[in-house]
Amino acid sequence: MKYSLLRGMQDIFSEQIYLWQYIEENARKILENFNFQEIRTPIVENAELFLRSIGEDTDIVEKEMYIFYDKKGRKVALRPEGTASVVRAYIQHNLFNNPAPQKFYYFGPMFRYERPQKGRFRQFHQIGVEAFGVSSPWMDAELIYLLKIFLEKLNINNLIYEINSLGCKNCRPQYRRVLFNFLADKVNQLCNDCQRRFEKNPLRILDCKVPSCKETLKDIPLITDFLCQDCKEHFISLQKELNEMNISYIVNPRIVRGLDYYTRTVFEVTTTMLGAQNAIAAGGRYDDLVESFGGPSTPASGFAIGMERLVELCLNSLSLKPKKPFVYVAYTGSSVEKDARKLVNLLRNINIPTETAYENISLKSQLRKADKAGATIVVIVGEEELKKNVYRWKNMKEHSQGETTLEQLLETIRRRYDSE
Ligand code: HAM
Repeated sequence: MKYSLLRGMQDIFSEQIYLWQYIEENARKILENFNFQEIRTPIVENAELFLRSIGEDTDIVEKEMYIFYDKKGRKVALRPEGTASVVRAYIQHNLFNNPAPQKFYYFGPMFRYERPQKGRFRQFHQIGVEAFGVSSPWMDAELIYLLKIFLEKLNINNLIYEINSLGCKNCRPQYRRVLFNFLADKVNQLCNDCQRRFEKNPLRILDCKVPSCKETLKDIPLITDFLCQDCKEHFISLQKELNEMNISYIVNPRIVRGLDYYTRTVFEVTTTMLGAQNAIAAGGRYDDLVESFGGPSTPASGFAIGMERLVELCLNSLSLKPKKPFVYVAYTGSSVEKDARKLVNLLRNINIPTETAYENISLKSQLRKADKAGATIVVIVGEEELKKNVYRWKNMKEHSQGETTLEQLLETIRRRYDSE
């Protein structure tokens, strides 16, 4: 084989594609019940859009972006996530002039040049949502509720919902100073990444998974003790609303997220079933992002689900029947090929999944193909039968057969198919 997949990329087909389709169909239904509208944004955008919104000192921007220069020398990037693009579209098309809330969802590939491992890819897919114009914690609670309903619909339970508040531009600077002072005499004990983060983005140190850092940081001051009154009230209301919705959650003041745009609420949904890459979905509020890109001050929040990880969980929680043709049209020779083609098209036009051989091969071979394809009914178009205005049929599941007029044939197939 001359060419093969790039590292960290996947082909999705056969049984897996049914799962992807099933998940996407269900997501679409639920999202539209919550009045989210689909938005499709380009995969390639101006690199600055991501550098500025995600933050210069995050792993994504420092190490993982697919950046290149186009033929005009413009610095462009494959999108590593969807939020920045939706915010760009929201501002560019003046969507803030429409009545709030404006709620969008998207499905699609994202790109991060990470070290591939189980559950971690360089091209991966997200189902994401972004809601603009609501500052109430009701929206944050609703997003978590929506996630829960969707994951339950896919039979995925036993998930861990963790929430935190990262404060706002009024209270976070004070917390950063406290953190800085606490860390000042411990920097040398921290891993290289944390030493680097100390100067630029000390909050990210809270997220470090290195055991020696965890030990050094066990008494680190926590943001939840430094929230201003408004942020505190927002966080308490969120918890009340989650309680009302019967959602079990953990307040984890160490969640900081790997993107810099968050304010107030952040949340992560994890599972113990996937090993190291255990985050199924994550999101939060980003009340300053629209304004920082030149739009009007607009509160916003959202989340994204990792499709590959979700599919991995669904392999255990769902068993889907593969899609098969319902009817296979076989024919007895080139003299009736045209009639076979007509019947194939007729069946497809009335929404019956139909397959045929497309070439003049023996009836025995055609029946073998029909069996392999998993067709329920085979219709045989034969010269003799056509003279009598009838078609021969075989029910491959019930091992019955007979002859019938076109009208009766279509009626029986319709009834059978609808009852499947
Ligand atoms: P994120 O936490 O970077 O958030 O990604 C969301 C989800 O995408 C993760 O929880 C994970 O399931 C999946 N994911 C991330 N990286 C990979 C990877 N390399 N391979 C496979 N799956 C991956 C965001 O992207 C934010 N834009 C979410 C958001 C929307 N916040 C507000 N609105």
